[in-house]
Amino acid sequence: MDIKTVGIVGAGQMGNGIAHVMALAGYDVTMTDISEDALQAAIKLIDSNMERQVSRDKITAEAKADAMARIATTVTLTDLGPSDLIIEAATERETVKQAIFEDLLPHLKPHTILTSNTSSISITRLASRTDRPEKFMGFHFMNPVPVMQLVELIRGIATDSETYDACKQVVDKLGKTAASAEDFPAFIVNRILMPMINEAVYTLYEGVGNVQSIDSSMKLGANHPMGPLELADFIGLDTCLAIMNVLHDGLADTKYRPCPLLTKYVEAGWLGRKTQRGFYDYRGETPVPTR
Ligand code: CAA
Repeated sequence: MDIKTVGIVGAGQMGNGIAHVMALAGYDVTMTDISEDALQAAIKLIDSNMERQVSRDKITAEAKADAMARIATTVTLTDLGPSDLIIEAATERETVKQAIFEDLLPHLKPHTILTSNTSSISITRLASRTDRPEKFMGFHFMNPVPVMQLVELIRGIATDSETYDACKQVVDKLGKTAASAEDFPAFIVNRILMPMINEAVYTLYEGVGNVQSIDSSMKLGANHPMGPLELADFIGLDTCLAIMNVLHDGLADTKYRPCPLLTKYVEAGWLGRKTQRGFYDYRGETPVPTR
């Protein structure tokens, strides 16, 4: 199956990055969100991220102009119906994702492939509530999408090989690398990454180190590009907590219990960069540790 048009649900951190790379790869993109303001902010961000690539000679000004012209926006979810491929990148809450799929279903073409950028929710369960479990799968990008090379492709129990192959071809066309993951809680990357981040929060909670020493240790001692607490702020502490809960509930092993300090930050609304405060305070010139 030849995919030409891509619908993206959600213009947030992940959605705008996905629109960015899809448009640069030549796909016609329609991106939707609930507010016009969110869509406008996303277009501005895509423009500035592409400009950064132009200024570093990663892409030409012409490629940027062509790609920007390929991105349409709409606040009407059902406008995405005619797309060949739909990638849902809304909030990491199952009820939200389910409601989106329910609204979309009557408007889809028979051949439309439905996917979710979920970082941890069961693909098989999401698929089972649609009319096309064989044409449903997980299409999981990493943040920042234009920079990170990996895409996890997750088959639900019913996903057919035609659907998998079509998605794999899209990943190839993006110039990214696909990793095939089985549909178990949090798949591969987050199954390994989130317990490490959660352990970093326990290390902070128990006073083994402070924010600075924990992040420096992992940057300088393990060559990670970001420290685990800085990375948690970058991903969003609410997302980190949601993924730990999926691991804890889905695998029923206490080794996945979310650190109470992570829960406390989320309860405070200190969700990381997106709210200007998390393990660091981003309101000034340079980030300042909050512990
Ligand atoms: N769009 C386009 N280009 C971008 C970009 C964006 N949004 N963000 C960064 N870049 C580019 C920069 O222009 C720069 O390009 P050059 O190499 O040509 O100079 C390059 O990326 C590096 O950026 P910076 O120099 O600004 O900063 P850096 O060297 O500190 O790198 C980083 C930034 C790439 C984010 C790096 O710190 C990193 O790799 N961090 C770890 C990220 C990570 O682990 N992501 C996965 C999170 S887990 C996940 O996403 C899954 C989930 O479900 C939660």
